[in-house]
Amino acid sequence: MTNKSASLNTGNGGMDLPILSGTVGPDVIDVRKLYGSTGMFTYDPGFTSTASCESKITYIDGDQGVLLHRGYPIEQLAEKSNFMEVAYLLLNGELPSKDEYNTFVNTISRHTMVHEQLVHFYRGFRRDAHPMAVMCGVVGALSAFYHDSTDINDPEQRRIASNRMIAKIPTIAAMAYKYSVGQPFMYPDNNLSYTGNFLKMTFGVPAEEYVVDPVIEAAMDKIFILHADHEQNASTSTVRLAGSSGANPFACIAAGIACLWGPAHGGANEAALNMLRQIGSTKNIKEYVARAKDKNDPFRLMGFGHRVYKNYDPRAKVMQKTANEVLDRLNVQDPIFDVARELEHIALNDDYFIEKKLYPNVDFYSGIILNAIGFPTTMFTVLFALARTVGWIAQWNEMIGDPSQKIGRPRQLYVGAGQRDYVDIASR
Ligand code: CMC
Repeated sequence: MTNKSASLNTGNGGMDLPILSGTVGPDVIDVRKLYGSTGMFTYDPGFTSTASCESKITYIDGDQGVLLHRGYPIEQLAEKSNFMEVAYLLLNGELPSKDEYNTFVNTISRHTMVHEQLVHFYRGFRRDAHPMAVMCGVVGALSAFYHDSTDINDPEQRRIASNRMIAKIPTIAAMAYKYSVGQPFMYPDNNLSYTGNFLKMTFGVPAEEYVVDPVIEAAMDKIFILHADHEQNASTSTVRLAGSSGANPFACIAAGIACLWGPAHGGANEAALNMLRQIGSTKNIKEYVARAKDKNDPFRLMGFGHRVYKNYDPRAKVMQKTANEVLDRLNVQDPIFDVARELEHIALNDDYFIEKKLYPNVDFYSGIILNAIGFPTTMFTVLFALARTVGWIAQWNEMIGDPSQKIGRPRQLYVGAGQRDYVDIASR
């Protein structure tokens, strides 16, 4: 908080608007009293200049390519931590002690099974349904199982709901996959790590023993860390907005999943791999780069550009390294990887991309890794949702725990018809 203020002259007089400072990052102009004082709203579709809340969870400096969770750089977390520890950090604000960590991991593993009745929900979907559609439906359905026990004003009940959600989402995601390929669902194995258990539920079958490959497990865990939270992005804002009305938390997460599905957001990893396949060979890259630059062509380079990062996305750097490790481990010679590297090189040296500050984002390389591990493209966004559930829950919890929290209710600039009289259908 500072004593600085910004003067606003509306033509009908002026007012001073307080300027608030965060720990780091740009100051913000506090416009909360603007409407009451001037009768005017601010107009900012897409929220390009609007902070929707105060938060202590994640900080991004898009110009410097910095991403911090509770102050810790993403590169350090990806290198030294693991997904369960990052989940604890996001939820609680501090890294856990050994005991806290063990208790948390144990608690999560105690909640990994889903209610047996939930299994029947899957049967209502077509086998070829997109797994994100299945995720929206099944996660939303969790609210029918846990509604009565979720008093969101009680921090302890919120903690239980959070643990349930984080524990069950890998089971639900793996079941979405199993349903699509017609294989039996696998029960969780609580002797395995969070990520190892997810791999077993996805790729294991009851007829054979499944041995988790530590390199794949580590890569997958890293992918989860890189997707765990990203401050007030579209899906997180959706979860906060849905939750601001006091709605059931599982229903709010289902709303976040719906938002994440779009190709401009979490759906970009699927779209990026499809695009690389479509390009097919390094000799076709120039043609696609030209299309991406053509204003009359809607084609965009998927996995490029970001609303906040105007420098290299720090997650993309870790992702590129992980892609190398996984392809080496699996001994995969994927021509798509050559296309990706060459496309990145060409785009980063092209004036259009330089001027617009378009760099690879987290989704550019993730699809290559997930494809090599054996996930179908339709599962990519599901994996993003699995990891981001931790961030959504942490952000939802922070919002509900904030005593100044209000229902989110944006205003609008109305440009439709003025008041007019109804005309009977015979006279139109
Ligand atoms: N390829 C070609 N041109 C692009 C691209 C791209 N990928 N991204 C932005 N531009 C151009 C755009 O045409 C516009 O040009 P002009 O100013 O001449 O009209 C300019 O750059 C600014 O773009 P914008 O759409 O106004 O920027 P935004 O901040 O609203 O959009 C974005 C950000 C991520 C939606 C966009 O860059 C995009 O569509 N990228 C491809 C999809 C993608 O990879 N999304 C994943 C984001 S990271 C993971 C996540 O958040 O889920």
